[in-house]
Amino acid sequence: MNALLREQLSESGLVVLENAAGDTATVSLFGAQVLSWTTANGGEQLYCSSLATIANGQAIRGGIPVCFPQFSGFGPLPKHGIVRTVVWEVATPVKSGKNVDVASVTFSLKDNAATRALWPHAFLLHLDVTLSENSLDIGLRVENTGHGDVDFAAALHTYLAAADVRKATVTSLAGQTYIDTTQQPHATCVQTDAALTIPAEVDYIYYDAPQQLTLHHKDTPRLQLAIAGFKDTVIWNPGPAKVKTLVDMTDCDWVNMLCIEAAQFQHPVRLAPGGQWSGNQHLTAI
Ligand code: BG6
Repeated sequence: MNALLREQLSESGLVVLENAAGDTATVSLFGAQVLSWTTANGGEQLYCSSLATIANGQAIRGGIPVCFPQFSGFGPLPKHGIVRTVVWEVATPVKSGKNVDVASVTFSLKDNAATRALWPHAFLLHLDVTLSENSLDIGLRVENTGHGDVDFAAALHTYLAAADVRKATVTSLAGQTYIDTTQQPHATCVQTDAALTIPAEVDYIYYDAPQQLTLHHKDTPRLQLAIAGFKDTVIWNPGPAKVKTLVDMTDCDWVNMLCIEAAQFQHPVRLAPGGQWSGNQHLTAI
């Protein structure tokens, strides 16, 4: 995390988890966003931009933003919804320390006047962050606390660190249908290659995606993702041209990251009053 962002977040707060294995996770209450996950042997596993800032109410570029109740620009709300730019609360005592095998903390967010002004629904969100040796589990729970049905999309927009994304591959997606949103109009495609490569911009939404994916660096497995609850997967990298339009990333930074996002997008969730939904993403560094 860059020094300016650390200073900006010091007011809303940061929670640091550590476990007996020597792994750590740093989470910002602004957005309940995990910004760093380090493993004792592998170092930093997430990408967070050196230019990330929350100035002008913007979302933090990196870590694991929570998207709710809208995915990306698909709808009338601000991009990726309304919860990545508000301050959440710590809902449970923080379990962390060198004598703790599994460190954890839960954050919560209730609807308030600001969220209702944009999206007129009552809700309660929980984000569970669990740090075990070499693995990080992020669980999103949604409850409809209002009196009418609620429809929503959601995603855990995970920015993974890449040594060089041009040498990275993602496996388990062969034969899957995806929407290529880099094309206008968006194109429906089927992945024929056994491994997805990222030579330039990629912005693909895989519908009903496999629940297990592997990120490789130069053919060596580096990270496994196990996803539950979220039915879709989004793979995003801005590539060398679009990155120049992003004010909070340096021009060369596109090679250092790859977003693999657990998403519920194709079929929005409908919750009746009192209804609950949950989804989670379990990351294991290899
Ligand atoms: C991805 C979308 O999830 O997020 C992309 O598929 C989008 O289209 C990207 O550009 C980043 O969005 P933002 O709002 O954080 O710049």
